[in-house]
Parts: sequence; C-alpha cells; structure tokens
Amino acid sequence: MKLLLPALLLALSVHAVKREDFKECGQTSFCRRLRPLSTKSESTDFASPYSLGAPSRASASQIGVPAKDAAWSFPLSSTMYPDVAFELRVDILEGDIARVRVDEVGSVSPWRRYNETAKWALLNAEPAHGAAEITTKNSVTSIRYGQDLTLRINHAPLRIAMVRGGNEEIVFNDRGLFHMEHFRAKEMPVEEEVVETEGEEVKTEEGQVVEGAEIKTEPEDQQPFEATIDRSWFETEDGDMFEEQWKRWRDSKPKGPEAFSLDISFPFAKHVFGLPEHASPLSLPDTIGEGSYYTEPYRLWNVDIFEYVADSPMALYGAVPLLHAHSARGTVGVLNLVASETWVDVAHTKGVQTHWISESGIMDLLLLPGPNPTSLFEQYAALTGPAQMPPQFATAYHQCRWNYNTQGEVIEVQDRFEEADMPLDVTWLDIEYADEHRYFDWNKKMFPDPIAMINQVAKLGRKMVAIVDPHIKRTDSFRVYKDSLDLDILIKKADGNNFDGWCWPGSSVWVDFFNPKSWEWWTRMFSFDTWADQTKNLFVWNDMNEPSVFDGPEITMPKDNIHDGGWEHRDVHNINGMLFHNQTQHAISVREPTKKRPFVLSRAYFAGSHRFGAIWTGDNLGTWEHMAGEAAMFLSNSIAGMSFVGSDIGGFFGNPGDEMLVRWYQKGAFMPFMRAHAHIDTKRREPYLSEEPIRSYLRDALRLRYTLLPAWYNAFHDAATKGHPVIWPHYAKYPGDETGAAVDNQYYIGDSGLLFRPVVVEGATSADVYLAAGEPYYDYFSSRMFPARMKPRNVTIDTPLDKFPLLIEGGHIFPSRERVRRSSALMSNDPFTLTVALGRNQNAEGQLYLDDGETFAWESGAFVHRGLEFKDGKLRSAPKVSYDAGNAYAQSISNVGVERVRVLGLNKEPKSVTVAGEEVQFEWDKGAPSAKEPRAAVLTIKNPGVKVVDDWEIVIA
Ligand SMILES: *[C@@H]1O[C@H](CO)[C@@H](O)[C@H](O)[C@H]1NC(C)=O
Ligand SMILES: *[C@@H]1O[C@H](CO)[C@@H](O)[C@H](O)[C@H]1NC(C)=O
Ligand SMILES: *[C@@H]1O[C@H](CO)[C@@H](O)[C@H](O)[C@H]1NC(C)=O
Repeated sequence: MKLLLPALLLALSVHAVKREDFKECGQTSFCRRLRPLSTKSESTDFASPYSLGAPSRASASQIGVPAKDAAWSFPLSSTMYPDVAFELRVDILEGDIARVRVDEVGSVSPWRRYNETAKWALLNAEPAHGAAEITTKNSVTSIRYGQDLTLRINHAPLRIAMVRGGNEEIVFNDRGLFHMEHFRAKEMPVEEEVVETEGEEVKTEEGQVVEGAEIKTEPEDQQPFEATIDRSWFETEDGDMFEEQWKRWRDSKPKGPEAFSLDISFPFAKHVFGLPEHASPLSLPDTIGEGSYYTEPYRLWNVDIFEYVADSPMALYGAVPLLHAHSARGTVGVLNLVASETWVDVAHTKGVQTHWISESGIMDLLLLPGPNPTSLFEQYAALTGPAQMPPQFATAYHQCRWNYNTQGEVIEVQDRFEEADMPLDVTWLDIEYADEHRYFDWNKKMFPDPIAMINQVAKLGRKMVAIVDPHIKRTDSFRVYKDSLDLDILIKKADGNNFDGWCWPGSSVWVDFFNPKSWEWWTRMFSFDTWADQTKNLFVWNDMNEPSVFDGPEITMPKDNIHDGGWEHRDVHNINGMLFHNQTQHAISVREPTKKRPFVLSRAYFAGSHRFGAIWTGDNLGTWEHMAGEAAMFLSNSIAGMSFVGSDIGGFFGNPGDEMLVRWYQKGAFMPFMRAHAHIDTKRREPYLSEEPIRSYLRDALRLRYTLLPAWYNAFHDAATKGHPVIWPHYAKYPGDETGAAVDNQYYIGDSGLLFRPVVVEGATSADVYLAAGEPYYDYFSSRMFPARMKPRNVTIDTPLDKFPLLIEGGHIFPSRERVRRSSALMSNDPFTLTVALGRNQNAEGQLYLDDGETFAWESGAFVHRGLEFKDGKLRSAPKVSYDAGNAYAQSISNVGVERVRVLGLNKEPKSVTVAGEEVQFEWDKGAPSAKEPRAAVLTIKNPGVKVVDDWEIVIA
C-alpha cells in the first residue's frame, strides 16, 4: 500500500513521487553542518583535530559490557574542544571482525548517546579470547589478529587502517572527517540559570529534570571555544542546532546537536555495493564530486514513499547500513550500526571513499575482513544471525490485492485459480477486511465467517494472510487500544503525553515495541483465545511500520517522540519497524502447542530483520522503468541479509498491458518472495483473467516457479544456516571477474547453477546475458549450449513473449518437481527430477534439502539433506551433512523417489545405465555439439528406482 493522494489524482496519472515531501541533505541541519566537511577537508592545511591517548584493557571501559581479552579502550580528544572527553574502544570479535566504537564520556550533560542499536541488530558480538596481540610504538598501536590482519591505529591524528598482507583495505578517518558533536547547553557561555536548591529537583531552561544540581556548569568549564583550528570547518553554527522547523513541523531537539560524521576509504576498491534500500544500481554510483551521477547522498531513513523514483538515492522503506567494497583483488565490508537518520556520500577517488553522517547515537563500526563475498556473507551472519527459514508455502506464489472485499471474493479467487489450472499458495487480505481499519476485528458484513473461509481455502493446502499494521485506532470500543492505554505502552510525545497521529483508521496511536512490557501482550493478541476469528492457516503482513504517519514530518513520526528508556524516536527510527516485525512473527510462531515457522511480511527493516521474515520493495509502479531497476534492488537487499525479497508483480500502481504482465510474472517467478499485488484503484488483473495466449504464458511462469521450488528451498536453507543470499549477484559468484562486477540485471539462484535474467524492455525480442568464464552454460528451455570459454562474454538469447533467459551453469545439479499441483503442500510427496548440467570436466554437484516445511523439527535433526555428485560417469547421492537417516521426517518420505534424471552435456553416448547392477531405461539425444548454435547432448534416465532418502549410485557406462 499506500496511497496518500486522493484517488482522483491517481486517475490523472500523477506518476511521480512528491519529492518535496522528503528532505534533501540541505534541509536537515545536521547534514547541512557536516556534509561540507568533505570539501573543506580538501584544503592542504587540514588535519583531523582528533587524537588518541594510550590504550588500556577495556575492562573499565564506559562503552558497553565489560570486555574479555581482545578489547582495548583509548581516550580520545579533539583540539577543538579540549575539555570534551571521548572514548574509543576497539574489540576484536569472533570471525576476525574488528569493532570500533566512540562515545562521549564524562559529560556533565544529563544526556547520553543512544548505544543500543547493536543490542537489537546483533545476535553475537563477543570479543574473541586472547586472539589478538597489541603493541604501541611511536604513537602507533598495532593489533594483530586473525589471518594476517592488523589494525594499525595512528594516535595523532586519529586514523585506523585494517591492513592485510601489507595493504590498507579499510581506512577509518583517512580524510579526517570524523567528528562527534558533544552535548552542550543551549547558550554558551552559560548564562543559563541552574536554580540552586538543596537536594530537590531542578529544572533547567530546557526543562530537563535532574537530581540535585550536578548539571551546574562551572565557569572554568567554559573554555571549549578556544579551539586551535578553525572550528567552522567542523560546525557551521546554524540556528537549527537546538530546534528545527521544516514546513509545518517543529522538532524540539531537547538534546541539542549530537550528530557525527566519519569517513571510510577503501583504497583497493573499484565498487561499493549495499546500503539498501535505494532504487539505484547495485554498484553504487557517486553522489559527490564533479559530474557525479547523483548529487544527493544515499539516505537511510525508513519512510513511506509515494510512487518512488526508479533511479534515486532517496530513502525508501528499509535501511541496512552495510557496505561491501570490492575489486578483483578482494572484498571487505563495513557495518555502521546506527539507527538515526544517516546520509552517505560515495566517490570513486583513490579507490572508493565514503562519508557517513548520522544525526545521533554512538559510533559503532564493524570492519568485516572478507576477503571474498562468501566469507563476508558468513561474517555478517555471524554478527546478525542467519535468515529465518521460511515455511515452505511462503516460497510459493502469493496472490494479493487491495482488496478482496468479501468472503465470496476470496473463495472465487480459489475457484478461478483451480479452473485455470494455476497453482496458488497464499491469498492475502489488505486493510479493508478490518472493521474501520481496526486490525484483528473482521468486517463481519463482508466476512461473516472468517474461520469457515480460511478452512475452505486450507482444504487445498493453501493459506491466508491478513494485514496487521502498527497504527491503532483511537477509540475506546477497540480492545487493542484500551489494552495499550491501560498497560501504558504507547509511544509518547516530547511533552510526555501519548502521541497520536493520522493513519488509515483516522486518529491513531502506536505501541512502543521498545518497551518489553508490550511483548507478551502482543503475543497474546494473536493467541486463539484473544483473536478467535482466525486459524493456524492465517498469517500476517506488517505494513506501514516505518512507521507511516500521514500527518507527520516526511509521513513519519516526529523525531522528538519518546520511546522506552527515554530515548527519542530520532535515535531509534530505523530500528522501529524491525521490532514490530520481530514481535509479530514471534506471536505467530507460538500460537499452537508445537512451535511453527511463522510467516510475516514487513515493509520496514533494518540490519537483522532477516531473522524475522520477508520484505518487499513497497509501492512500485507498473512501468518498464520500475521493472528494470528492481533486480538491482533485490540484489542490494540480498547481500545485506534481506534476501527474502520481492516486488509487487504487475506494479502496485497502474494497469499493466498484456506484455508487461507476462514479463512481470516471469520476473516474479524468480523473485525470492513471489507476490502479485495491486492498488485499490487498478483494474483486476489476477492471472486467470487474461485471454489466451497470455493466460498460458502466465500459467507457465507460475508452474515454473512450482517446478523449481526444491531448488529455491535449498537456497533458503543455505540462507538460514550459512547466511548466504538466496539470489547471488555476479560479483559474489565470480569475485575475480573485474569486467562483470557491476552486472546487476541477472542473478543466480542459490548454488543451483540457475542463472536468470528478467526481460524488462518493451517489445524485446532478445536479451543479453553475461556469462562467467570457465564453464559451459545450457539454456533451460532448449538445451542450447554455450561452450566453456576462457573469458567472460555476453550471449544473446531470443525472448519471444513466452521465453526469457534462464540458463544453467555447467557443474551443477539441481532438484525439481515436475508434477505441478494446486498448491505446494499437495506436492510434498511427489517424486523429484534431477538435472545434471555437466561442467567442462564432465563433473557436477548439487544438493537436495528437505524437511517438513512447517515446524522447527529440522533444527533438531528431522530433515533429509543429500549431497549429489556426478563424477567419473557416476551420479551419487550421499548425506551432505551427517544426520540420523531414520529421523521422523525421513521416514515420512521414505517412499519418495527420483522419477527422472536429465544429464546435459555428456560427451559420449552411454552403452548402459545401471543402478545396483540392474539396467535401467534411458533415452539419448546426441544433440549437436559442434553446430553453429550447439545443442547439448541430453541423457534422460526414467524411473531409475532410487529413493531420495537412500544412498545410491547410478552408473553410466
Ligand atoms: C550504554 O551506555 C550506558 C552508560 O554509559 C551503559 O551503562 C550501558 O551499559 C551501555 N549499553 C550498551 C548496550 O552498551
Ligand atoms: C525480538 O523479541 C525477543 C523477545 O521475543 C527479544 O528478546 C529480542 O531482543 C527481540 N529482538 C528484536 C530485534 O526486536
Ligand atoms: C556485455 O554487455 C554489456 C552491456 O551491453 C557491456 O557493457 C559489456 O562490456 C559486455 N561484456 C562483454 C564481456 O562483452
């Protein structure tokens, strides 16, 4: 969703975001103050005014938890503000990740910087035990750790480099742009009256209440103005430091300025990737410098953005402050854990230079050493946890629309899918199912018997999803509102009263999920006792959780709103949506006596949200331009953990024509999260509504998704266990290929070897695909072969409307199920097909991971995980990891077999195919390996008589 303009305007086809609803850097005072540092610092007499004192073991550190072995603390100060003390702490974490934190310490101010971002985002940030050595000589501290890594810390001026094999790969404060604004009283020198009273509460001008009179600033504390270098380089004194007005919104900023700036250089890098979510190319273009592609920095500030621009650094719905820096020489990463509004400039100068500016919070920087994309994925997962393993149905097709308005319509959708012989797993209900947009309360006029409806849908193995948004209608008759008032768990305004704002239900309030008191209560909201009108087959969609507030600044919450612990919304904004997602998915998982895998879709997200479920790219437009940009968005999200991602098939806004709808379904079949969705004002466009031949093309795309579900499931399992992305950009598979590093219009599905490229150009009759060097590729549809080459290359694939580029890279085996049924659940005992795409050396490998698809029993060994290998003319199945072959799940599928093996690219005709000495039937198509357009030889083995749970060998002689 979400439409903010009247439908009339939409009808007039206003297809552009209202840019003026969202700030540019120059319209937000901290960005206005700190962005120009980068140009000022180019002056030759500029040097960072920050320097470090001698390190000590960090046990006495002010930052965070007591340290174990590999943690040191350094006093940090700036010549500009000699009386302000900072602490810099360095931890070496498991996995050779260096963590550098900075906080202001010993301040007389009652304020503190927000330091809990890591608490929400990271699962594990334990310092390693004794894994690092430290030496300090001539004001340079070296910390040696891991595999040939050194953190070289210059004390004055402050500069920290992660060095590997003698090369600086990540440099913090290379350009001296680090600056942390300290807490200060509004007026300096302090005329500010601190009313002396004895032991009583004291009220300062700002209205903070403190015990006693400690806040009193002594006259000798007034020296900070004697800076030794030009302070204006660091802080443009603007009138907006203590209060800021934007349009009709005033931000009271009680804490005053507390922004920070830092620079990170990657001297070896040619590309940086990441920082989702933006509608920009995967290889992030420059935002600053002469002729830069963009002129605004990438912005991280979760917002509900109406008809977003297809190519822009503007903020969108989610924020993951993770960057990969890459060249053929290696890949490293940084995670800048901050949840306040953040702007990032990128410039390809001396490698790649980045400048990060955040409004509040401590600096908490994690340096991920790589040295390749796969190790980076694993390091990021070690910090933030692996992705959630979705229930199997969630990987299949989802049909949504704003709105299916009645129970009858929902049933009609089921029937029509059935009649059209199209598979479907999940039917969705947007906001109109709820009475007056009071989520949980069905509109009983339209949905008289929700349980009967869900049960009828579930008969075909299908599920439903209903939306539950975070805004709560302010009306006493709504129990959710009443409860949240009684429990006092609502987000507050700066003045301490409950915040109310405008959203779908009208006047609304928002629960503060930072308050642990809300957790158990929210879980209860989804229990069958509390919410009786549901069944275990109903799942949830958390939309609008940026949060979207229609009458708030930039359609979100005022920054001076207050959360649990007294933190301002400013400090926690980008995390806010993740906490809601977390609590909802938890609630769904515990509804039944046996814990079930939840499915909850969220729109807002932050680093770590992948632990809680899927996301999508929000309100896209049904235009070719939007379609074209989405692959890059999926990839950028995927490398930052958020790989259960998709976009609205067909485009949320607009009425796609036949051609576009087909292309969108084909693309949709290869999105990790495959859902069709449409705005309330669009024409109905369920795939069964199209005429032939369009309808068949749409059916083919749907059926292809279902056929390949086993390959997708393997990929989801790798995401849930290793932290690998479900879809892989070229650079992540082939980090050594310099020329293909920026390719972002095609991707690989897990380790299946399947390479997909969407067709996103109107009228396209062919599309180019970029192939890696080294292995042959095979066309999925035609067995056309692209022989192995020493160099990467583009190949052209014909794309009549029913075709698109889908290739298989040689050297891979992937499983599929070719008997497509009405839902994925109905396919769970069907036999498999194995496709063996032989590599240059007539070898291939793959996997088949299976479990019950709905419980957590897989975590305690109830699964089947086969390693498949083709070598020396033999295809073997053996356990991929060690597991109990007699586990309950394995037993439940003991009869499931392999019904077909297809071997592509065998270089000689087999004389026999045997299993355990018995001959089995096969077909041989010798192909045309030496034709101008070569076709691969195809060996088809029918019913080899092997079971997926067993060890076996098929011998081709
Ligand atoms: C945040 O800072 C406070 C005050 O210095 C400290 O007591 C607390 O442990 C810190 N919390 C975290 C999660 O680091
Ligand atoms: C998720 O919820 C659990 C409690 O159910 C809590 O312990 C954890 O900190 C939460 N994490 C996030 C990111 O909200
Ligand atoms: C492949 O095509 C792209 C886009 O046209 C082009 O930029 C690139 O240089 C080509 N690569 C090779 C290896 O030919």
